[in-house]
Amino acid sequence: MIKFTPSILDDIRSRLTISSVVGRRVQWDRRKSNPGKGDFWACCPFHAEKSPSFHVEDRKGRYHCFGCKASGDVFTFLVEKEGLSFPEAVEQLAGEASIILPKFTPAEVEKEKVKNSLYDVMGHASVYFQSKLWASEGSNALSYLRSRGLKDETIKDFGLGFASASKVGLKTFLLSKEVSEQQMIEAGLLLSGEDFKTSIDRFRERIIFPIQDAKGKTIAFGGRAMAKDAPAKYLNSPETPLFSKGKVLYNLSKAKQDAFDKGSIIVVEGYMDAIAVYQAGNKNVVATLGTAMTEDHLAILWRLVPQPVVCFDGDNAGRNAASKAFDRALPFVKAGHSLGFAFLQDSKDPADMMLDGKNSEFLALVNNPMPMSEYFWIRSTYGLPIVTPEQKAGLEMAMLQLIEQIKDEGVRRQYRYQMRIRLSDLFYQFDKTSLRKQLTRRGMKTFLPSLDDEHASNIEKIVLGLAVEFPHYFYRREHQFIFMTFKDEGFRIFQRELYSLLVVEENRTVSAIYSNLDDRFYKVLEQVHGHEVVSKSSNHKLIRRRGHALYERFPLAQYDLSEDFVQRMLDYFYLLLQRDAVKEDLREAGEILVQELNLKNEVRLNALFEELKHLNNNILEQEKLLTEEASVWTEQYRSRKVA
Ligand code: UTP
Ligand code: MN
Repeated sequence: MIKFTPSILDDIRSRLTISSVVGRRVQWDRRKSNPGKGDFWACCPFHAEKSPSFHVEDRKGRYHCFGCKASGDVFTFLVEKEGLSFPEAVEQLAGEASIILPKFTPAEVEKEKVKNSLYDVMGHASVYFQSKLWASEGSNALSYLRSRGLKDETIKDFGLGFASASKVGLKTFLLSKEVSEQQMIEAGLLLSGEDFKTSIDRFRERIIFPIQDAKGKTIAFGGRAMAKDAPAKYLNSPETPLFSKGKVLYNLSKAKQDAFDKGSIIVVEGYMDAIAVYQAGNKNVVATLGTAMTEDHLAILWRLVPQPVVCFDGDNAGRNAASKAFDRALPFVKAGHSLGFAFLQDSKDPADMMLDGKNSEFLALVNNPMPMSEYFWIRSTYGLPIVTPEQKAGLEMAMLQLIEQIKDEGVRRQYRYQMRIRLSDLFYQFDKTSLRKQLTRRGMKTFLPSLDDEHASNIEKIVLGLAVEFPHYFYRREHQFIFMTFKDEGFRIFQRELYSLLVVEENRTVSAIYSNLDDRFYKVLEQVHGHEVVSKSSNHKLIRRRGHALYERFPLAQYDLSEDFVQRMLDYFYLLLQRDAVKEDLREAGEILVQELNLKNEVRLNALFEELKHLNNNILEQEKLLTEEASVWTEQYRSRKVA
């Protein structure tokens, strides 16, 4: 007869959702069910009924009928509904879960038994450590824990304990419970071997943190040194049949329900952090056990929530940890499988923040984490010199190579196109800065809108202002003017009105525009150009010239500009607006491509990227020419004024 270990059955249960198994036999009630929460209702397949009282919960992996009281898990469902024997059900479901059932040798069956007995050993040990914490020997340890802000209730809730300096305290206690030395060694509780005449307790003079599995069974201990000069601050259980560090998350058993309900989980670095955060009312917290995030950790976390938030200290070590966690997770990201990054400030850890009463600051960070894609961008580009073509290509290549690791095709594409948009922006900004430096070195001050106010609306205002200021030049570029697509609705209407005033009604002077423009547009006119302001009190003194709004935004406009120059300015702004439009198109095309992957969409996306690159080069070229020209020209103007 084949024997199935509980752990194999657990593996199968955790890899299959019960709704997918039961769903082959029943029709879910759409209104009552909540698939997002793994919560389903149907008419009971075990008895005849008209309204659904058969409940299936993926999280619990169980079904229950409130009518006929039938209940069970995936295995019993197949046994009772499909008439399979238990082993047959296990075999079938193992197949569906792609789990290969090991053939058990008697030795292996024995091993499983040993493992089960080890749980009892750990249970006894935990009781022992706890009793010591509350006895006189543990009084220092207890006051230390209290001084770190832990309430007695929390200390008990987490089963914290104390190991005294005695070399055989635990060993003696466990022997009295009929635990053999061999078992203690297997449970990782003793130090033994050549260096020791007899085996002794592993944990001595340490505060003990029991480490539990997802079901709350103690499988290991972490021991924090009391003595400041102890060789290691923390000493953890070794790998044992029960415990493998890379697969365990501290506090998972207490956190999982709350995490599932809230749809969020916080991952911190230390035991103390997890306990302090939990005590402050955030139950959805777990800690890794002094290891980097592993693939197993990710799998556990993603089963609970789509985007676990990993907390990192604000120091170098924290930054390194973030980087590692990112590399681990990147290949596996997909819809509903990502990480959030929360960086704490001033090299404080979460336990410090809780002690300082800064839970709300902590939550603000954790609830607003940096998405992986953002972290990716920052890590890839931060502080890099991006001047030469080689550097640009190098950066692009490095980013692409990382992105190639993402297994999910859709996400991979998403990353790729986002990266290309951001890179072309970044390259443009760098080129622009270096162009400006070049021009300054040659003694030319650029008069063009600076990086920050190059937003479309500012450009729109400048263009409209120029049209009012130089109507006699603008009307000859009527086509270009009217084809500029403004984002702002109010500006668009104003643009059309201005157009008909200039081109159709032939108003070709500023004064004509001011006197003939419909009153409705007065406000926009004020905003983009600006009527003269005279003081009523002090004898009609001129306070502001007409055009002051434009001059402030674009000082060059106050000179008597040549027609050619104004028109080329118009070309330049036209390009800027066009670039905004292309970027918008790119964003859209990227999204379309992610939804529908085909050659046509891809070709379009690539064409847009080419266009963006082309526009960026053009813009830089124009900016250079215009600046050179303007500087010669303002020089002349100034000397003429002097003469
Ligand atoms: P920390 O030093 O940040 O631990 O290490 P902590 O929990 O905040 O400890 P306190 O606040 O000083 O009491 C983070 C985690 O790394 C592991 C432990 O799991 C610890 O909780 N660690 C650390 C070790 O395993 N061994 C060590 O020597 C240090
Ligand atoms: Mn700490």
